[in-house]
Amino acid sequence: MRQFLKIGTLLVYAGMALVAQEKTADDLVASMQKEDITYAQLMSGMGMAYESIQNGVVSMNKLLVDRGIYFIRTHPAPKQKPWVIMDQEDHEGFKAMLVYYDKKMDDDVAIIEKATQKKDWEGAYAGAKELGNSCISCHLAYKDHVKYVMK
Ligand code: HEC
Repeated sequence: MRQFLKIGTLLVYAGMALVAQEKTADDLVASMQKEDITYAQLMSGMGMAYESIQNGVVSMNKLLVDRGIYFIRTHPAPKQKPWVIMDQEDHEGFKAMLVYYDKKMDDDVAIIEKATQKKDWEGAYAGAKELGNSCISCHLAYKDHVKYVMK
């Protein structure tokens, strides 16, 4: 069992490395519109978007779901490179997470959107849970590693 877990972890890292190779974190950030906000402020917006999706799904309100999806899909980059809040030794790992989860969260909201269009609220709920998994996976790995405040 432990062996399987190890192999599973390796596969996730291999997958992340592959995605990271296709598109670097610098490319990703450069492709986004820049806003005069910190990374934490961007995250605060992500929190509102996630709440809007969850609230919209359970109350079967397409408008709230769509608004949240729009934010996640089109969110800007903060005023500085996101990894400046991390210690130098965490830069590469955090960059790989940024690239991997940016794509993953786009995939998650696409599932929520499709289900919502069909009024498949249970499917949308499952998608929202998957989106929440993406958020918490990165938080578990990096939220406690924040070392600097973005000026
Ligand atoms: C690539 C990693 C990553 C992903 C994915 C991610 N977060 Fe975060 N999030 C962070 C980090 C790092 C912080 C801590 C930032 C800081 O304290 O400067 C944070 C902080 C937060 C905060 C607290 C903000 C504050 O004011 O202190 C909220 C709320 C939040 N995230 C929501 C979300 C939601 C909702 C999602 C998913 C839709 C998400 N995050 C996805 C890395 C991530």
